[in-house]
Amino acid sequence: MPKLKSKLPLLGHLMPDIALFVILFPGVCLARQLINQDCGSTFCGNLNISFPFRLKNQPPQCGLYDFELECENNNSTTVVARKGKFFVQQIFYENYTIQMVDTSLDTDDCNSLPLSSLYYNYYMYVVNCTEPINSSLYIEASRCTTKSNTSSSLPTSHFYFLDAKTRPSDFNQACTIEAEAPIMVENITGMSTPDIYKKLLEGVWVKWSRCQYQSCYKPDVLKEM
Ligand SMILES: *[C@@H]1O[C@H](CO)[C@@H](O)[C@H](O)[C@H]1NC(C)=O
Ligand SMILES: *[C@@H]1O[C@H](CO)[C@@H](O)[C@H](O)[C@H]1NC(C)=O
Ligand SMILES: *[C@@H]1O[C@H](CO)[C@@H](O)[C@H](O)[C@H]1NC(C)=O
Ligand SMILES: *[C@@H]1O[C@H](CO)[C@@H](O)[C@H](O)[C@H]1NC(C)=O
Ligand SMILES: *[C@@H]1O[C@H](CO)[C@@H](O)[C@H](O)[C@H]1NC(C)=O
Ligand SMILES: *[C@@H]1O[C@H](CO)[C@@H](O)[C@H](O)[C@H]1NC(C)=O
Ligand SMILES: *[C@@H]1O[C@H](CO)[C@@H](O)[C@H](O)[C@H]1NC(C)=O
Repeated sequence: MPKLKSKLPLLGHLMPDIALFVILFPGVCLARQLINQDCGSTFCGNLNISFPFRLKNQPPQCGLYDFELECENNNSTTVVARKGKFFVQQIFYENYTIQMVDTSLDTDDCNSLPLSSLYYNYYMYVVNCTEPINSSLYIEASRCTTKSNTSSSLPTSHFYFLDAKTRPSDFNQACTIEAEAPIMVENITGMSTPDIYKKLLEGVWVKWSRCQYQSCYKPDVLKEM
C-alpha cells in the first residue's frame, strides 16, 4: 500500500449532509420547519435568497441554518463547505438546484488552484507533490505558462489533478491529497489543463432535498450536463 497522506479529515460534505440529516430524522425536519419560517425573499446582488436558504445576517427565525449563505458586499453569495468555500452562482427553486463554483478559483491568478472540497458524484483529486511526476495520469494543475522562480532553499511543490478512480497503486508517495474538487465530468483522464479549468469554472449543480409535510425526498446529485 502506498503511503497516502490525506489532509482531508473526511470527504467534504455540504448539501448531501443536510439531505442525509433530514432523511434520517424526518421528525426533526418537521420540527425545524415549525420553528423556522419563510420570511419572503431577500437579495444578495441579484440572487434571490428564499426559504429554505437564509443569509447569515437575517433575523434568526428566517430559513434553515443548515442552508445558511453569506452575502459579501451585496455582491457575491458564498457557502462554506467542509473544506473551503463556494460561490453560489444560481439557485433554481423550481427544481431544487443550486449552482456553485469554488471561490479559490480566482481567475486573475494563474497560480490559484481548486482547493475546496465537496461531496459530489464526480470529483478529482488535487495533489501536491514534492517532485515532478512524469505520468499521463498526473495532469498538470498549474495554469501558469512560466513558472515563478522559487528560491532553491524552499521545497518545491508540483500540483496535479488525478482522476477520482485512480488506483491506489498509481498514487505516488511524493504526493499528498489537498482536495477532492467537484467537477461535472465523469472522468478527467486525457483532458488538458485548460479543459479542466473550463469545466471547473462552469461550476457544479447540486440538488437539495425537498422536505415538506413530513415527507423528505432523497436528493440526487445531478449527472453530467
Ligand atoms: C442588496 O442590495 C439590494 C438593492 O440595493 C437590497 O434590496 C438588499 O437588501 C441588499 N442585500 C443585502 C444582503 O444587503
Ligand atoms: C462587486 O464585485 C466586483 C468584483 O467582482 C468588485 O469589483 C466590486 O467592487 C464589487 N462591488 C461592491 C459594491 O462591493
Ligand atoms: C424569489 O424566489 C421565490 C422562490 O422561487 C419566489 O417565490 C419569489 O417570488 C422570488 N422573489 C422575487 C422578488 O422574485
Ligand atoms: C433547473 O431549472 C433551470 C431553469 O429553469 C434550468 O436551466 C436547469 O437546467 C434545471 N436543472 C435541472 C437539473 O433540471
Ligand atoms: C504543498 O506541500 C508543501 C510541502 O511539501 C507545503 O509547504 C505547501 O503548503 C503545500 N501547498 C498547499 C497548497 O497545500
Ligand atoms: C516522461 O516519460 C516519457 C515516457 O513515459 C518519456 O518519453 C519522457 O522523456 C519523460 N520526460 C521526462 C521529462 O522525464
Ligand atoms: C477514463 O478515460 C480514459 C481515456 O478516455 C479511459 O481510458 C479510461 O478507461 C476511463 N476510465 C474510466 C474509469 O472510465
